[in-house]
Amino acid sequence: MNRWRWLFACVFAMVVGMPAFAAPLPRIVTDHGRHMLLVDGQPYLMLGAQVNNSSAWPAMLPKVWPAMEALHANTVQVPIAWEQIEPVEGHFDFSFLDTLVTQAREHHLRLVLLWFATWKNNGPAYAPAWVKLDNRRFPRVVKKNGDTLNSLSPFAASTLNADRTAFVALMKHLRAIDGEQHTVIMVQVENESGTYGTDRDYAAAGTRLLQSPVPAAVLAKTGRKAGTWADVFGKDAAEFSYAWAIAHYIEQVAAAGKAVYDLPMYANVALRDPFHPGPPGSYSSGGPTDNVLAIWRAAAPALDLIAPDIYLPEYAKYTSVLDRYARADNPLLVAETGNAAPYARYVFAALGHGAIGFSPFGMDYTGYSNWPLGAQRVDADTIAPFALDYALLRPIAALVAQAGYAGHVWGASEPEQVHTQQLDLGGWVADVAYGLPQFGTPEAKGNPAPRGGVLIVQLGRDDYLVAGYHARVGFRPAGRNAGRHALFERVEEGRYAAGQWQFLRVWNGDQTDYGLNLTSQPQWLHVKLATY
Ligand code: DGJ
Repeated sequence: MNRWRWLFACVFAMVVGMPAFAAPLPRIVTDHGRHMLLVDGQPYLMLGAQVNNSSAWPAMLPKVWPAMEALHANTVQVPIAWEQIEPVEGHFDFSFLDTLVTQAREHHLRLVLLWFATWKNNGPAYAPAWVKLDNRRFPRVVKKNGDTLNSLSPFAASTLNADRTAFVALMKHLRAIDGEQHTVIMVQVENESGTYGTDRDYAAAGTRLLQSPVPAAVLAKTGRKAGTWADVFGKDAAEFSYAWAIAHYIEQVAAAGKAVYDLPMYANVALRDPFHPGPPGSYSSGGPTDNVLAIWRAAAPALDLIAPDIYLPEYAKYTSVLDRYARADNPLLVAETGNAAPYARYVFAALGHGAIGFSPFGMDYTGYSNWPLGAQRVDADTIAPFALDYALLRPIAALVAQAGYAGHVWGASEPEQVHTQQLDLGGWVADVAYGLPQFGTPEAKGNPAPRGGVLIVQLGRDDYLVAGYHARVGFRPAGRNAGRHALFERVEEGRYAAGQWQFLRVWNGDQTDYGLNLTSQPQWLHVKLATY
């Protein structure tokens, strides 16, 4: 860069208030309905973990970092509570955030901040006392029978103003301390919004909303004709209008935060059962459940995505949630998932669905576990299956992110009842089988408990990276190769270091005669396929 250009860059940076030559802000890019997270301009796969709810205090951090190290995580999700940063209205304390960012940098980790404010699992537990105790200024949701619930009304401008003011202060401070380094790469706005115990807020504003016109953006997304919420959505109108009200509230918080510091932002969701959801209110009504995703996407464009919290161990349910939240208009991020061993294999299915990140919940050594939702204890044994995932993925995380963006990643996780799966790679079908020995071709019976997983990354026409565990992978010609016989031209075992393939050995003979047997000790295979 010549002198004049350099001077111009400095002056420009001073004018817009950003440091000279700072790396670009984290952002999510979309192409052909697929998505990729960029951090410092580079493809980034979030190999995440979330700490327990009450671990966001300086004294707890020494119990967080060793867990992250054991996991090989590259990102930690940590709550920032409204009550913690604004215990007295208008008086902010960001000392925990400062400590957190400093220590995350020392441990070479990125952060995702979780804004626990108006909603934390439907309630205002993390709102400051001056909010929680002032029912007149910050009203709660009213049920049909007039009772109030411990969920704040999305219709109160006073609540929105107070939450938004605090969030903007947080984002301003964050920009001041992290605008150059981008240790914080994303922000979750609120936590599992919605309300249990009612379909909507029966306050007057909620009733008025039902009789008001559905906004054009919602009509466009849902393909409906103009009318009031009650007319357009009939029996669903109560829940759908309530979803719009909450999404619109969170949109205003997120948009104001982005206006001061434009990081990717998302909302997470307390899922409803994908197959037997029950009535709204038996799940968190108004939150971004799968039936109201279109409304949320229309109402909250400042949110880059809606992320599922998946605590459904069954294969059919887990993968159904992945199907529903991986959309052209919604990048998939598994914002939370159970930390029990059976969940570890789902990182592969998530990546196969194009996920930009994955994050087991409650991963720290503070001594708490959310069993039976997750593991019974959080110790080295709990960490191990997820550490296996991340140790495998971390050296090639950027490559996986980029290949996923190009549509060149396939993933399989072992189902409970079915012991073989087929992945359609185009010119090939990958046959995945679970529970086979490493020699011979008996019928696949599945692993004693489902725990297998496979990831395939296409590098060239007949050229693939294959990894996984507790599974066997074979390849069958298909498409342009149909009718021919398959052979392995070459199978190299190797590892990625600093983005480069390092050759270790060639697999042949017993190691390939029955397919590629991926054992309890995963490794990367570079597979060149051919036909005869
Ligand atoms: C989902 C919530 O988002 C988390 O904060 C936590 O409460 C888990 N459920 C349960 O441990």
